[in-house]
Amino acid sequence: MDRTLMMIKPDAVRRNLVGEVLRRVENAGLKIVGLRMVHLSIEDAQEFYRVHAERPFYASLCKYMSSGPIVAGVLEGEDSVRRWRELMGATNPAEAAPGTIRKDLAVSLEENSVHGSDARETADQEIRFFDLKLPLRG
Ligand code: CDP
Ligand code: MG
Repeated sequence: MDRTLMMIKPDAVRRNLVGEVLRRVENAGLKIVGLRMVHLSIEDAQEFYRVHAERPFYASLCKYMSSGPIVAGVLEGEDSVRRWRELMGATNPAEAAPGTIRKDLAVSLEENSVHGSDARETADQEIRFFDLKLPLRG
């Protein structure tokens, strides 16, 4: 069993798609073990995405990610990092496979509705960032 961080981004929260995304997570058999709505400050967004600090889309991305509340969650399951990214689809919704969240729900390359960690190490780091006070494992 391993864990990954998901975010439901501002565009999806704004369009009342929180339940739709969580339904897809649960239907896929991933367990939601932490969940919280937060409104990131621009500084929070800059810190979360600092790996992209040199990229041309960084400033706009951070502004968008702090433009309204997001839902951050921790998903648990075997191979959760890969499975959640598969449900999300490609970063660019125009290139995302049919049936994926980004294909079905995203607005644009930037406003692509969801986030998922890209590796186990990043997942641990991103989960710590949100400090979701996860239930202890029995
Ligand atoms: O989110 P993902 O890991 O699929 O993609 P990323 O390459 O880590 O980029 C992080 C986020 O930056 C994306 O999800 C988009 O919201 C945004 N982005 C963008 O606005 N323009 C790009 N050319 C690439 C990414
Ligand atoms: Mg990424």
